[in-house]
Amino acid sequence: MSSGAEDGLAVTVRDKRFGARQVIADLTFRAAPGEFVALVGPSGCGKSTLLNILAGLDPAFEGSVQAPPGRLGMVFQAPRLLPWRSVADNLLLVDPPGGAAAVEDILAAVGLAGRGASWPNHLSLGMQRRVAVARAFAVNPAVLLMDEPFVSLDADLAGSLRDLLRALLAQRPTTVVFVTHDVAEARDLADRILYLAPSPTRVEREEVIMNRSIKEKQAAARTRSG
Ligand SMILES: Nc1ncnc2c1ncn2[C@@H]1O[C@H](COP(=O)(O)OP(=O)(O)OP(=O)(O)O)[C@@H](O)[C@H]1O
Ligand SMILES: [Mg+2]
Repeated sequence: MSSGAEDGLAVTVRDKRFGARQVIADLTFRAAPGEFVALVGPSGCGKSTLLNILAGLDPAFEGSVQAPPGRLGMVFQAPRLLPWRSVADNLLLVDPPGGAAAVEDILAAVGLAGRGASWPNHLSLGMQRRVAVARAFAVNPAVLLMDEPFVSLDADLAGSLRDLLRALLAQRPTTVVFVTHDVAEARDLADRILYLAPSPTRVEREEVIMNRSIKEKQAAARTRSG
């Protein structure tokens, strides 16, 4: 990912292919600083492929990705924790500014205070997903990429992780690109939703959601008047 877009994230993928098969065509979007953009599309349409491009993990595409200076946090579709390292060591691997103390802070912030010595495989999937979120926030990301981070969790647990994400973003604001196939989840979290059409993937339409800060101001106003 090249830097230079001080004003947020600017993405153009003109062409992405696997062999002869075109997966993404003429897909363009921007995310303003601090904006939460959700990408919604059907299974297999190319969402993970797109996030890998944004993360700089897949340079084999035609187009450009401009991101603000700073580090990138990524939550993969599976938690992807190293099973032979403790939870704290998994977080230290990303070289968080602030080191071990910062790791303890972020574990506490995701509800896992004191669990740094645990082995990832001894944690429930919900807890592993919390660790994956903690690892992404541990680098103080300028951009946070999330690939269906709460998939395969029951509805209550997914809801509580969405609450957790909102709380983390209130404390540690950053620009977010969040991939999901769940429209309700996108509407619950995002400022703006881009709906992706498949074969090849491109942006079909956009939905602007009343953003978090406005929602919060209105909730505060309701509390005052009620
Ligand atoms: N490394 C690869 N080589 C060949 N084809 C691939 C590769 N990675 C992905 N694909 C194909 O590209 C298409 C998009 O895959 P991708 O994983 O990006 O979809 P997705 O939208 O993330 O799906 P899901 O919602 O199931 O996670 C699929 O048809 C997939 O089979
Ligand atoms: Mg995927």
